[in-house]
Amino acid sequence: MVADLTAADFLQASQQSPEKPSSNIEAAALQVESLGLQLDGKVILHGVSFSLPTSGVTSVIGPSGAGKSSLLRCLNGLLTQWSGTISVAGASTRQWHGGWDQLRRHVGLIAQKPVVFNASIRANVCFGIHGWRQRRRADELVEKSLQQAALWDEVKDRLDAPAVTLSVGQQQRLCIARAVAIKPGILLLDEPTASLDPRSKQLIEQSMQQLAKETPLLCVTHDLEQAQRLEGSTIFMCDGRVIEQGESKQLFTQPQCIETREFLRWSVCDCN
Ligand SMILES: Nc1ncnc2c1ncn2[C@@H]1O[C@H](COP(=O)(O)OP(=O)(O)O)[C@@H](O)[C@H]1O
Ligand SMILES: [Mg+2]
Repeated sequence: MVADLTAADFLQASQQSPEKPSSNIEAAALQVESLGLQLDGKVILHGVSFSLPTSGVTSVIGPSGAGKSSLLRCLNGLLTQWSGTISVAGASTRQWHGGWDQLRRHVGLIAQKPVVFNASIRANVCFGIHGWRQRRRADELVEKSLQQAALWDEVKDRLDAPAVTLSVGQQQRLCIARAVAIKPGILLLDEPTASLDPRSKQLIEQSMQQLAKETPLLCVTHDLEQAQRLEGSTIFMCDGRVIEQGESKQLFTQPQCIETREFLRWSVCDCN
């Protein structure tokens, strides 16, 4: 998918620098309590509760329609009509300093289909960085972000080429570079490697494991092997509920709930 990047977009994004809430409480990176969501009169999430540690990958697995994407959209404020509490670094997202736009800078979201702007690779990475054209250290930031996204080696000689000339797998890594360039506090990923070539998938997983050393990642995946490779912890969701959450090694080898066992065996669940 390609989006046109205008000067106004740059201006709007650059006027907003990341703001973290002030909080004296040493908190989980993300705390969700009794999260409920209705869309068009249909209950999508039923009292979802869980927390994310301050680093590491947490995978979210579950059948199609379980509410996984809707959950991510509530967490970064793309959906706001939810009930319950979502706290990031100890602060309620409803009272986030600077509002939902600022929250979305702090809680980045990588979608399944990469969205690159109709601009150069370099400009795509810098989207959202205040005054990047004048910044002496912009080159350093571009290199670091592209390295973190495991794309640097493939594009270092053509940073001014249009981003649309990249393969889909490269475009997804460019989206990750753009997200990490603004140093998010949390990164959400919604099936980031679905339908990508195996090499891009491998590079993205490796990049995620590196990023997770400093930033908590919440990754929805249909790929159960991927969730195990990413280690960390796993949340199993079905029919808008969290059925089970635990260390990935534990959950995949000794699931506590019968629904989890069935899902791991058959990839379907009787809940829905
Ligand atoms: N805008 C909407 N209006 C009504 N129902 C929706 C809307 N968006 C999603 N849904 C429904 O919410 C449920 C969960 O969807 P989704 O969060 O995309 O699940 P998942 O990502 O786990 O496949 C599905 O039944 C879907 O049809
Ligand atoms: Mg989904």
